[in-house]
Amino acid sequence: MMQNRQNMLQITRAEAEAGLKVCTGQIWRNLSSYTKQFPTSASKASFYGVCDNSEWTSAFWTGQLWLACEFCGNAAIGKAALAQCISFREWLRKRIATDSHDLGFLYTLSCVAGYKLTGSEKLKETALLAADSLRSMFREKGEFIQSFDRPDCREEYRTIIDCLMNIPLLYWASEITGDSGYRETAVRHYRTTRKLLLRGDGSAAQAALFDIDTGEVIKCFTRQGYSDDSAWARGQAWAIYGAALSYGYTGMEECREMFRQAAAYYMEHLPQDMVPYFDLCITEGDEWPRDSSAAAIAACGMLEMAKHLEAEEAEKYRVCAGRIVKSLYDGYMVRDYRESNGLLLHGTYCCSTPGNVIPEDNGRDECCLFGDYFFMEALTRLQRDWKPYW
Ligand code: GLY
Repeated sequence: MMQNRQNMLQITRAEAEAGLKVCTGQIWRNLSSYTKQFPTSASKASFYGVCDNSEWTSAFWTGQLWLACEFCGNAAIGKAALAQCISFREWLRKRIATDSHDLGFLYTLSCVAGYKLTGSEKLKETALLAADSLRSMFREKGEFIQSFDRPDCREEYRTIIDCLMNIPLLYWASEITGDSGYRETAVRHYRTTRKLLLRGDGSAAQAALFDIDTGEVIKCFTRQGYSDDSAWARGQAWAIYGAALSYGYTGMEECREMFRQAAAYYMEHLPQDMVPYFDLCITEGDEWPRDSSAAAIAACGMLEMAKHLEAEEAEKYRVCAGRIVKSLYDGYMVRDYRESNGLLLHGTYCCSTPGNVIPEDNGRDECCLFGDYFFMEALTRLQRDWKPYW
């Protein structure tokens, strides 16, 4: 399956900068529609709809605003990002939709980012409150963070690989407060995930269901992939980036090992242009959609991990990320606002398969809010030395 990519070009710094200009222009154009309200999780016919701050994806928009603000210094964009953080604060205060592990995505890219960029104590406090809620979703029986806060529900006594991207909120809270409990919770969740969801060949299963009485694992399965034994591309990318971030916070060698295994499997299952199909069990043909968001996430993970590796190995991942982002820049980035109001085409949120029917089946071959965010983050990482929000 390994393709010969020796001749593939990497994105240059000038192209990354040009890409950021295009993305920032698009964000500026969208700002009046999406300050009080948010883009939907995925587009329809390449255009996002409008929704309240009620989706697990909302902060991928706020994160884009922070990245745009850092890039171009436009005060109006910064003001909109700050206003959105206040709405996240209200959300938490009223305890609306605070019952999911996605608190990590939501509060890292809104309030943690805002705190890091502005020093606002209010945003710090808000993010710490979110970290408390996330921590309270850790289950001793099974040692994992539950995807939804339903401790008494047998069918919901489960976790998913995506949560590796939520635990940085806990690592951050430990650093800020000096309370090592947040970090210990994150590490215990990380270890359970690695043990159960990373298979021997380096591929990642998406979900694990536990016995509510004993904490024993009942089964591993998929929610968004092709089948229970395949590797959903975005889940594999969450594993790559999640392991890299856990390594950055803990220095645990096992995270670096997980990163290497997950990245090797990912790279061996890419089509020629390095943008995966929505599941890595598919490597060619037109029948199934790509998931450009997985490509952007994996590239960010490789660039993050490269900071913690010896020169030769770091270079391998930087080159790989540079090629992935070049491919996205050349073939997937929105260049004409009449074509789409997103940033990155050909993402896939959900895709039904014969063995995994997803009733809502939305966001097939569309822009996805997380794809847009991680594409911008990848461009930012390749344009300059950037301090992550995670
Ligand atoms: N965390 C859900 C997804 O990646 O679609």
